[in-house]
Amino acid sequence: MPDEIAVELTVNGRRREGRCEPRTLLVDFVRESLGLTGTHVGCEHGVCGACTVLVNGEAARSCLMLAVQARGAELVTVEGLGGDGAAHPLQKAFHEHHGLQCGFCTPGMLLTALDLLRANPDPTEAEIRQGLAAVLCRCTGYQGIVKAVEAAAAVLRRTP
Ligand code: FES
Ligand code: FES
Repeated sequence: MPDEIAVELTVNGRRREGRCEPRTLLVDFVRESLGLTGTHVGCEHGVCGACTVLVNGEAARSCLMLAVQARGAELVTVEGLGGDGAAHPLQKAFHEHHGLQCGFCTPGMLLTALDLLRANPDPTEAEIRQGLAAVLCRCTGYQGIVKAVEAAAAVLRRTP
């Protein structure tokens, strides 16, 4: 496409480059140009939180950013959680505490929870509920999600 531009950034610790139109949303760039389809597209209006990724360490809705705005940034997507084939403590806790059903909200929920726990490693239940309020889940009733974040927080506090 003639008016495509290059976008270079770090994704999950690796330098990546892709091409897209200047108007391309970050979520579409991540999914289509970089092939990282773990980031989900829900409302495309900044409401549901399904598209949440970490941009320079902070949770951001990738449907509300242009890909060009992320040039040079450090991005973490759900594919970047865990490592060496092992699940991240949050992923394990979501599995163990039934923190998901259809899984559509889960990538955004995990990254929002990670952002929350980095800022507040020992949150109360109310703080977890408030921290996760930015992500909508249509399936679980949230109870399992809150329990999972509490459990992961305890594990992460013991992890050096
Ligand atoms: S798809 Fe981005 S907030 Fe819903
Ligand atoms: S698990 Fe289905 S939307 Fe949350």
